[in-house]
Amino acid sequence: MIALVTGASGGIGLELARLFAGDGHDLVLVARGGERLAMVARELEDRFRVEVRPIPRDLSNPIAPLSLFDECGEVDFLVNNAGFGHRGSFADEDPAILSEMLQVNVAALTQLTRMFLPAMVDRGSGRILNVASTAAFQPGPLMAVYYASKAYVLSFSEAIRAELEESGVSVTTLCPGPTRTAFVDRAEVSRNRFTSSRVMEPFEVAREGYAGMMAGRAVVIPGKVNRLGAAGARLAPRSLAAGIARRIHEADEPS
Ligand SMILES: NC(=O)c1ccc[n+]([C@@H]2O[C@H](COP(=O)([O-])OP(=O)(O)OC[C@H]3O[C@@H](n4cnc5c(N)ncnc54)[C@H](OP(=O)(O)O)[C@@H]3O)[C@@H](O)[C@H]2O)c1
Repeated sequence: MIALVTGASGGIGLELARLFAGDGHDLVLVARGGERLAMVARELEDRFRVEVRPIPRDLSNPIAPLSLFDECGEVDFLVNNAGFGHRGSFADEDPAILSEMLQVNVAALTQLTRMFLPAMVDRGSGRILNVASTAAFQPGPLMAVYYASKAYVLSFSEAIRAELEESGVSVTTLCPGPTRTAFVDRAEVSRNRFTSSRVMEPFEVAREGYAGMMAGRAVVIPGKVNRLGAAGARLAPRSLAAGIARRIHEADEPS
């Protein structure tokens, strides 16, 4: 079977790709950096004896999802993992970065799902894993657009999951908390919060997400602390949850 994983050149996406390859699935890997992607493809082919096709593509380009679909055709598993955040007060954020973030986190994920889904429905089988975040459960002052983009991913994925109930196609949303990846560098948040022992390793997050997707679960929140935090955020009044997120990101200034 074939899995397409976006954002597969590092972090959580790379670990998900390793899990697919370990189970003998062929892969299509997508990220911007072609060299790194080719290295990952070679590693997986050598280690696991599967076919891996690296496709360098910038998902902030609105035509990227269609061109990917044209190149790949049908897949058995679709993992929409590519995404990034940026810390800053909304009024000062670079509009170009915000638009890129919405394109990658929201629009590309939606369009890729729309394009690869019909063949899955026709076959009566397929699994989709959309990567959101624990940020999906509350508003996020100082990372307002990132949190809102992840709330979209969760809401969208839960909605189409319900539409697809009888179809044989499952949609799982993975909601990681802080995870030790290159995410912090691009988000321009302090490394401090990402060095505590509560921060998860990308392979731990991927393992829970992969198992949840294969089991057809609706939402996977890796790690007990993250599950407790998400439950608290869902129960708390929205203004209180926003206040807590604001304090976290105020202390998040990179040193
Ligand atoms: N790390 C965390 O604390 C955390 C927490 C919750 C949720 N998440 C979510 O987990 C997902 C994976 O993040 P990560 O932590 O593994 O980050 P990461 O290590 O920075 O990996 C991001 C991946 O996405 C690719 N990517 C970024 N922009 C892209 C674009 N425009 N087009 C195509 N590919 C692009 C990157 O490769 P290139 O740079 O070569 O394009 C890389 O392969 C994201 O959706 C993120 O929001 C992360």
